[in-house]
Amino acid sequence: MSVVRTLFDVIIIGAGASGLVCGAEAARRERKTLILDHSEKAAAKVLVSGGGKCNFTNLGIEAGNYLSENPHFCKSALSRYSQWDIIAALETHGIFWEERAHGQLFAIDSARDIQNMLLEEVRLSGALLKTGFRIKGVQRRGDGSFLVKCQGKNRVESYTASSLVIATGGLSFPSLGATPLGYRIAEQFGIPVIPPSPGLVPLTLHKTDKQRFGTLSGIAVEAEVRVEEMRFRENLLFTHRGLSGPVILQISNYLHPGDTLVINLLPGRILESIIEKAAAKAPEAKTAGLFAKYLPKRLITAILPPSLADKALKSLNAAETRLIAESFHQWLIKPNGTEGYRKAEVTRGGVSTRSVSSKTFEVRDVPGLYFIGEVLDVTGWLGGYNLQWAWSSGWCAGQYV
Ligand code: FDA
Repeated sequence: MSVVRTLFDVIIIGAGASGLVCGAEAARRERKTLILDHSEKAAAKVLVSGGGKCNFTNLGIEAGNYLSENPHFCKSALSRYSQWDIIAALETHGIFWEERAHGQLFAIDSARDIQNMLLEEVRLSGALLKTGFRIKGVQRRGDGSFLVKCQGKNRVESYTASSLVIATGGLSFPSLGATPLGYRIAEQFGIPVIPPSPGLVPLTLHKTDKQRFGTLSGIAVEAEVRVEEMRFRENLLFTHRGLSGPVILQISNYLHPGDTLVINLLPGRILESIIEKAAAKAPEAKTAGLFAKYLPKRLITAILPPSLADKALKSLNAAETRLIAESFHQWLIKPNGTEGYRKAEVTRGGVSTRSVSSKTFEVRDVPGLYFIGEVLDVTGWLGGYNLQWAWSSGWCAGQYV
C-alpha cells in the first residue's frame, strides 16, 4: 500500500453545495485547491433537493429566516453573496428557473443542471476534485499547516495545506453521505458544537394519538401551526406515523421535546360566526354537515367532539359553540418525537458560530481552519434558505482561504 504526499494551498473536506462553491472561488484566486469527499458523487443533496428541481434560493432571504445561537452571524455572508448572485450564476449557465409560492425559486428542468453547474465551475477554476476518499484523520503540523490523511481506492494518500475548510454538512440523510466528521474535527480543535438535532423533519405522535389520527393518513389541508411565538401557515399532511407537510417541517425547526403544537385547521375563518350564521339559515342542519365544505369528512369526525356532531345547529349553546371553534382553531397536539435524520432535510445546531469569523469563516483561535455551510450552527427555513446559506458561506470563505 503506497503513500502519496501532495502539497496544496487549500483543502476542502466535503464536495457539497458549500464546498464546491468555496473550492471554485479559492482556485480562481490562484490558490492550489483540493476538494475531497468520501462519497462517489459530489453535490448529492443538490441533486435530490426540491423534489429533483432544487429549490436553490428564495427571493425573500433575511437573517430572520435562520436559526442560530448567534442570529446575527449569517447577515454578512448573505448580503455579500445574495440570492441575486446565485440567480446570476444560473443565468450565466443558461439554467432556467421559476418562482413558486413564498418566493421559492426552482430549476425549471432539473436539479442536475445545478449540480452540473457546480462541477463545471470547479473544473473551469482548476480546483482538483477527488471523490470516494475516506478521511482517516486531520492533524495540525508544527508550521501551522494541516495534514489530511485519506484512504483512496487502493492507497493511503496524505495532503497538506495552509488552509483547511470543513464543509461536511449536517447529519440528515446518511444515505446521501452525511457523517459527523465536521463536528469531530471541531471538537479535536476545542471548538464548541451546539448539540445537533434533526430539523425540517416530519413529527411522530404518541400511541393514542397515532391510533386516533393515523386513519387520516394522506389527508392534506392548509393549516396554521404555532409553537410559542413562532407560527407558519402552509399545507399540513397527516401520515400514518404522525404529521408532515411544509407547515410541520417549518415548525419542527422551532420545536423542543415536550412542546405542544397549536394547530388552526381553519385559518382565516371565524368558526363561531360561521356557526351563528349557518344556524340562522338552516337551524335544523346537523353540526358535522356544516364543516363538509371546509374540510375532509374523516378529519371532521376525528376533531369534532362526538357528542356534538349530530346536534342541530340551533340547539348548540354558547359553550358548545366555543368548544367546537376551539377544537378546530386551537387543536392542541403534543408530538412524541421526529422521524429523525433519515427524513430530516437539515440539522439544527452544529459548530458554534461564536468561534468563527462571520466575514472569513476562519476559526478565531485556529488560523487556517474554516467551517462553512450546514456544519455550522446556522439552520434555515424550508424554501431555499439552506442552499442559499451554503452558497453564501462557501463563496465568502472562498475569498479568504
Ligand atoms: P452538503 O450536505 O451539501 O455536503 C456535505 C458533503 O460532505 C457531502 O458531499 C458529503 O458526502 C461530504 N462528507 C460528509 N462527511 C464526510 C466525510 N466523513 N468524509 C468526506 N466527505 C464527507 N435546501 C434548500 O435550500 N432547498 C432545497 O430544495 C433542499 N432540499 C433538500 C432535500 C433533501 C432530501 C435534503 C436532505 C436536504 C435538502 N436541502 C435543501 C438542504 C440542503 O441540501 C443542505 O442544507 C445543503 O446541501 C448543505 O450544503 P453543505 O455544503 O453544507 O453540505
